[in-house]
Amino acid sequence: MEDSRIAMPIGTALDRFIKSRQTAFPYATGELSQLLRDIALSGKVVNREINRAGLINLAGAAGTENSGGEQQQNLDVLANIRFARALEKGGEVCAIVSEEEERVIEVNRKAHYVVAIDPLDGSSNIDVNVSIGTIFSIYRRISEEGKPVTMEDALQPGRNQVAAGYILYGSSTMLVFTTGRGVNGFTYDPSLGEYFLSHQNMQMPLEGKIYSVNEGSYHSFPQGVKDYIEDCREKGYTGRYIGSLVADFHRNLLKGGIYIYPSTASNPEGKLRLMYECNTLAMLAEEAGGMATDGTNRILDIVPTRIHQRAPFFVGSKNMVERAKELVEEAKMIEK
Ligand code: AHG
Ligand code: MN
Ligand code: MN
Repeated sequence: MEDSRIAMPIGTALDRFIKSRQTAFPYATGELSQLLRDIALSGKVVNREINRAGLINLAGAAGTENSGGEQQQNLDVLANIRFARALEKGGEVCAIVSEEEERVIEVNRKAHYVVAIDPLDGSSNIDVNVSIGTIFSIYRRISEEGKPVTMEDALQPGRNQVAAGYILYGSSTMLVFTTGRGVNGFTYDPSLGEYFLSHQNMQMPLEGKIYSVNEGSYHSFPQGVKDYIEDCREKGYTGRYIGSLVADFHRNLLKGGIYIYPSTASNPEGKLRLMYECNTLAMLAEEAGGMATDGTNRILDIVPTRIHQRAPFFVGSKNMVERAKELVEEAKMIEK
């Protein structure tokens, strides 16, 4: 079997890359490849809509709420429709867990894959022309094909992911994903309508100098997180917080850094969703040599009990996440 970490040349088109890696996928039937293509294609459609949102009256709030009781934006709703439709039509997915849908959506009973998705991440940045993203995780179903999907299929720990990735709608649009054999980044060329390999076998620097956290909530952070932030300040690190998880993560992946969304007074379990935010980025981080924890546990080992479950989240360069975890644990010991 081809060693899938051997670099393909920069400029390789996504389709070609996927095809050449197909034999290295854990279940090489071509379904996972097709599923990745479906996601990439929907990303192009959403990208187009985001780019002209201001012109066609798509910006702004939809006046409805999502699964977490948060205000939905028009583009949140639209992106959800675009991805769900593509996954339904594609036929490779038996169930979808989406931030924008309260329940698990049953799709094709005969299919083998479950997708968890945050169709549009960074809602508060939609109307102000700041980077936003799509986050997705793919699992193999546990139950027998042909039968109705079960909650066990949906509620799998992150370590079961067979693929994870995001699309970043930034100054350029990128698709970054892993199938468990390294992380690769593709840049979208709108003039050709195709993604091309631009970042091979991405590695997160072990150490970084960037910390990303909403310091406006500092007073309600756990003591250990306050201690870690103090540590970063003393070391003269740089604070960078976009407020779009995908964009903050992507920068830290390239440059080295840590992203933190801890528990707060208003969000005692943290704000980010385990299944389509934390797990996805945790798999990417680990595949790139980084680390992800909730302060105590490895994110990928948490077994979800609810599809929209939240978790405190520390992700990024390994040494930084380890240091943050150490200070969080120390502070907990002192509190006891
Ligand atoms: P979403 O738009 O999918 O609801 O997610 C927003 C998330 C994440 O992207 C971001 O890092 C975080 O919320 C920002 O939250 P605060 O405004 O509380 O910092
Ligand atoms: Mn999100
Ligand atoms: Mn979202």
